[in-house]
Amino acid sequence: MMEQLRFDGRVAVVTGAGNGLGKEYALLLASRGAKVVVNDLGGARDGAGKSANFADDVVKQIKDKGGVAVADYNSVVEGEKIIKTAIDNFGRIDIIINNAGILRDRSFSKISDQDWDLVHAVHMKGAFKTTQAAWELFKKQKFGRVIMTSSNAGLLGNFGQANYSAAKLGLVGLANTLAIEGDKYNIKVNTIVPTAASRLTEDILPPTMFEAMKPNLIAPVVAYMVHESFNETGLIIDSTLGFATKTHLVRAEGATLRKKPTDPVTIESVKANWEKVVDMTGAKNISKISEVTLNLVEKLQDFEDRSKMDGDRESYWTTYSYNAKDLALYALGVGASVANPTDLKFLYEGHEDFVALPTFFVLAGMCMESPIVNQAMQSLGKFADFSNVLHGEQYIEFVGDFPSTEGTFTTRAYVVDVLDKGSSAVALVNSEIYQDKGLVYRTQQHIFVLGQGGFGGPRTSKVATEVVAAPKRAPDAVVEQRTAEDQAALYRLSGDFNPLHIDPNMAASMGHQKPILHGLASLGISARHVLTRYAGNNPSNVKALKSRFVKPVVPGQTLATEMWLDGNRVHFQTKVKETGNVVIAGAYMDLKKVESSSGPAPAAAPQSSGAALKSDALFAKIIEEVKKNAAKAKSIGGVFLYNIIDNGKTVKQWTLDLKTPVVFKGAPKGKPDVTMTVSDDDLIAIAGGSLNPQTAFMKGKLKISGNIMMAQKLGPLLKSEAKL
Ligand code: NAI
Repeated sequence: MMEQLRFDGRVAVVTGAGNGLGKEYALLLASRGAKVVVNDLGGARDGAGKSANFADDVVKQIKDKGGVAVADYNSVVEGEKIIKTAIDNFGRIDIIINNAGILRDRSFSKISDQDWDLVHAVHMKGAFKTTQAAWELFKKQKFGRVIMTSSNAGLLGNFGQANYSAAKLGLVGLANTLAIEGDKYNIKVNTIVPTAASRLTEDILPPTMFEAMKPNLIAPVVAYMVHESFNETGLIIDSTLGFATKTHLVRAEGATLRKKPTDPVTIESVKANWEKVVDMTGAKNISKISEVTLNLVEKLQDFEDRSKMDGDRESYWTTYSYNAKDLALYALGVGASVANPTDLKFLYEGHEDFVALPTFFVLAGMCMESPIVNQAMQSLGKFADFSNVLHGEQYIEFVGDFPSTEGTFTTRAYVVDVLDKGSSAVALVNSEIYQDKGLVYRTQQHIFVLGQGGFGGPRTSKVATEVVAAPKRAPDAVVEQRTAEDQAALYRLSGDFNPLHIDPNMAASMGHQKPILHGLASLGISARHVLTRYAGNNPSNVKALKSRFVKPVVPGQTLATEMWLDGNRVHFQTKVKETGNVVIAGAYMDLKKVESSSGPAPAAAPQSSGAALKSDALFAKIIEEVKKNAAKAKSIGGVFLYNIIDNGKTVKQWTLDLKTPVVFKGAPKGKPDVTMTVSDDDLIAIAGGSLNPQTAFMKGKLKISGNIMMAQKLGPLLKSEAKL
């Protein structure tokens, strides 16, 4: 059972505690050991009148149950008097729940000055005065928990409540700033957005809802947020009907309203960019004002840099988003298979080393659909479209950290040169792919434009990254793989929908017997072979890759990747085994470090991270659970180290850092709170319920050092069926 959260020794002020929500807060806190100042002016719901009855009644209820409470009848606008009641009676103040509230609903034009002022006085000034009176004491004792009470009428607006809405959203602003000012003194300021049956809502909520929306369903949420173990601040928590959810403001990515820093912003340029201004895809919560400023400074810098780079050249800017599903689909498209244990990490998002294949990232740099090649050709009096372009060569070079398993890139593509090869032209298209702050990688494509040469241009270019012929000796290694009949049908789902690869009629009209495989699919297959043979199957080991597509491949044919090792460069070329035709030529992969694997075929070599254990799946599940339930994991807290042993030797370690929370392979940086040592089989038995952890502990099968009490909190995490 979870330890009871108590408030012994704490003094709480609950304003407006004579009724509704405040009364429930006061009763609950008192029942858990807090000394409570039950403040209530005892007026009508519009703020008129006053009486001692409300507060006295609640104090009596608390005392009848053995609790400690004192009544206070001051108006919150004189909040300092309420805090004085706390100090005079209990000698300290730890918790303030600013809850008192009134309504003076009118449609906007009918709101009088008094309606406005009174509502603002009770909600805004009341919270200000009461909280400010305790602030210095909070700072001195380095402890304070404050709740502001907002409303969906404030967050979203509500007909007839303009005065109330304004005050209620004002309280969120107040909480935001106090959360910042109080943080270094352990003063946590959060906001509750309740919806409950009370005299304020009896004529607003439908009767069935009114009956169900008991204020005591919200009180535990507020009580938790004022507990000493609650360390979050600046949150807005909406709660009703036994449900609670965080809510926050988000900021879209926004749009640049002009092309160059020297351009003016016009009303028309605003209109032209409006769709992007209001596009909420990729919107983020920004919790600090400094993040907004930083974000703007970065945007400005980025904008200026791009403008400099663009010069007079036409650039094509796009964004490209991808996720785990895209990576797995791509991996299947380039022949990865679960039959190959070393491929699993490219196919299964739950794999502990799940990662993208390096050639996947070529896709974000593709420019086939952009107008830039045609624009470049038109400037030479020629043209390019879908029917006369061919992907001739591909280069990719990683600059920053290897990209993660999901994300969004911004890509700038532009034509750097157009070569005249006689009958055909070749457009060299560079792409630069950015993420967040910087360049992640760049690509270059040679796009053949058939029949559009002869314009008197150069045959070669200084800015072209050229293919390099393989050494003349026999290859050092060869890996073969038969492509599937559906290889092209599968690969196209990664984004190249040219019918040439699926439609027999289209293929026939272009002189092929059958739809052909995408050049990039063949490249992806060969690159996988090189990766496994010489790069330790580690994509982040790849620096650059270059290839030329020479001849088409028909799905079903067998690809043979021939490789030559030359320093940190692996030259390769790919042949179709059935015909002997070279289909990829002059290709190479540059590596940070050569890590040869002995077998010619992708081998099931043990991962550098240690051989697979049964408990790996358990930890994969825990990783998922912790991701899904980060707040819950955090509430358990603590850093737990698992030593998985085999014959007395530790064969793998896992860290459950629930403070952060994050789960990873290996030991934590600092000292763990709890260390558990157990064999793979016993851990599985404990997780599956067939071995009781206490029994395992008593029998010495599970060794625990450090904070044993804390280890017990982990129970639910260990049961494989249990959710956090
Ligand atoms: P309630 O009317 O039952 O309780 C409010 C209490 O505040 C009353 O007992 C009243 O005497 C007291 N009060 C009013 N003015 C005061 C003053 N100047 N000084 C001291 N006490 C004063 O209302 P309820 O529903 O429990 O509301 C509590 C808070 O929750 C209010 O701030 C309200 O605006 C807010 N709220 C309530 C919602 C609901 O669905 N009940 C929805 C959204 C917000």
